[in-house]
Amino acid sequence: MKNPRLGGRGIFRLPSWLPNHVVRLLVVLVLLAGGLLFARASLPPEMKDRKVQQENTVAREIAHPVKYAGAQACGDCHDDKVQAKAGGYHRNLSCETCHGPAGKHVEDPLSFTPPAPRDRQFCPKCHAYNLSRPLGFPQVNPVTHNPMKACIECHEPHDPKPPTGAPGECRACHNDIQRLKDVSPHALLECTTCHEAPEEHKLTPRSVRPSKPTTREFCGTCHARGAKKDDVPKVDMTTHGAKYMCWQCHYPHMPQIGGDGEGDGEGHHE
Ligand code: HEC
Ligand code: HEC
Ligand code: HEC
Ligand code: HEC
Ligand code: HEC
Ligand code: HEC
Ligand code: HEC
Ligand code: HEC
Repeated sequence: MKNPRLGGRGIFRLPSWLPNHVVRLLVVLVLLAGGLLFARASLPPEMKDRKVQQENTVAREIAHPVKYAGAQACGDCHDDKVQAKAGGYHRNLSCETCHGPAGKHVEDPLSFTPPAPRDRQFCPKCHAYNLSRPLGFPQVNPVTHNPMKACIECHEPHDPKPPTGAPGECRACHNDIQRLKDVSPHALLECTTCHEAPEEHKLTPRSVRPSKPTTREFCGTCHARGAKKDDVPKVDMTTHGAKYMCWQCHYPHMPQIGGDGEGDGEGHHE
């Protein structure tokens, strides 16, 4: 059966051997293409011309107000701070990292002064213990590190000094271990809880050595079921990690189980 309308007698004389379903498909395609061409023609230029788009983007970005003054801008008026920072541990921080955008201040110093972050909450953004920070980055546990006082009571923000440790303190020579322990669940244990360190060790450390724990039972004094220590997690000494020394699995200066609690600056079990 031939479709009388499309069968070749109308205005468009299609070859009669074309099957009907192909003819219908052609009609649909022609309509689609026409629709698309019409839509494109009626789009405004900024929606289809790449050059116009680029020009508009540049114009839009330029129109943003400049908020930051840049790392060089403060020296003209605050040279003391620039000098203090230049030689210290914060030398790689820009002033505006801590003081916020100061473009307005540089234009007119008296009508707008940038805030100074005197609050205790601020410094831990970078210095709170976080497992993912590089080893050796100075970190503290803000909960236990000199609580209730502003950080800047003890640390000059423009030239913070690293802790030296008085000669003779374990930290003076073992700062890496001390740093780890300070932010670990063992933070409150003294070094000498686990090591007997003779005074001569501090004078001739390589020839006179402190003791080190040698038995599982040593850790068991606090961690064995039935040990008389509250608030200490307990294990069954006969089965838990049996045959191995505890420190083959737990680094004693940073014993840490699982991934909980890290990064929020809090100790464990709090
Ligand atoms: C043209 C000079 C000038 C420049 C440049 C300048 N300042 Fe200041 N700044 C001042 C003056 C003057 C004051 C004191 C304003 C006051 O006491 O009200 C001040 C005060 C401050 C304060 C004190 C706020 C407080 O709470 O005490 C901070 C912080 C500060 N400026 C940061 C900056 C930073 C960061 C830059 C660089 C981005 C900068 N300033 C650039 C002149 C300048
Ligand atoms: C690590 C964060 C930090 C950085 C980086 C920093 N500041 Fe500060 N700044 C502070 C804090 C916190 C205070 C408040 C100190 C106080 O009250 O004792 C302060 C105070 C100030 C003050 C006003 C108080 C004063 O002691 O006169 C000025 C001015 C200032 N900073 C300028 C600068 C400039 C300029 C730079 C860059 C060279 C800079 N700061 C870099 C944290 C920072
Ligand atoms: C009461 C004084 C005091 C206050 C307050 C204080 N600190 Fe400290 N901080 C010290 C001393 C002392 C050291 C040297 C190490 C030690 O004995 O803990 C130190 C060490 C540090 C270190 C170096 C740690 C390392 O392992 O090298 C950092 C980082 C630090 N503090 C940051 C802070 C921050 C952040 C705050 C505020 C949340 C703060 N401090 C509050 C006294 C203080
Ligand atoms: C944007 C991140 C950042 C902020 C905010 C910041 N610091 Fe630092 N701090 C650093 C860096 C980076 C170092 C240098 C670390 C290094 O040399 O390995 C440093 C070093 C230090 C040190 C030296 C410790 C050592 O043992 O080497 C102290 C103390 C310190 N900062 C205290 C503070 C205090 C107090 C504040 C708040 C006023 C503060 N920091 C805010 C990044 C920051
Ligand atoms: C004057 C620097 C200094 C002081 C202070 C110091 N140590 Fe040491 N300590 C050393 C040196 C150096 C070694 C040997 C490191 C090595 O052999 O790699 C050492 C080794 C150790 C060892 C390992 C012993 C071994 O046989 O493996 C322990 C444990 C130790 N110290 C604990 C302490 C304790 C606890 C304190 C504080 C009471 C302390 N040290 C204070 C310098 C010091
Ligand atoms: C909970 C007990 C405990 C505490 C607290 C402790 N240690 Fe240790 N420490 C050990 C054990 C166990 C070893 C032996 C690890 C091994 O043989 O692998 C050790 C080993 C060491 C070593 C040898 C090198 C190493 O890293 O294995 C040094 C140095 C050391 N401790 C120093 C210190 C200092 C300094 C402190 C205080 C900041 C401290 N320790 C706190 C248990 C402890
Ligand atoms: C003087 C008591 C004492 C001794 C000795 C001791 N610990 Fe601990 N241990 C603690 C305390 C306190 C905690 C922290 C409990 C908390 O976080 O509430 C702890 C926590 C732990 C944790 C759990 C950490 C976590 O993430 O929950 C492990 C693992 C651990 N210690 C292993 C050891 C090993 C291994 C030894 C022997 C080298 C040892 N302890 C020796 C007191 C001790
Ligand atoms: C073979 C490895 C291995 C040995 C050896 C080992 N542990 Fe553990 N320990 C683990 C693992 C894994 C976990 C975490 C899973 C779990 O709770 O059993 C853990 C968990 C712990 C906990 C935390 C329990 C809690 O409830 O939070 C403590 C405390 C502990 N161990 C202490 C010790 C002590 C003390 C010794 C030596 C007597 C020791 N471990 C020996 C692997 C070991």
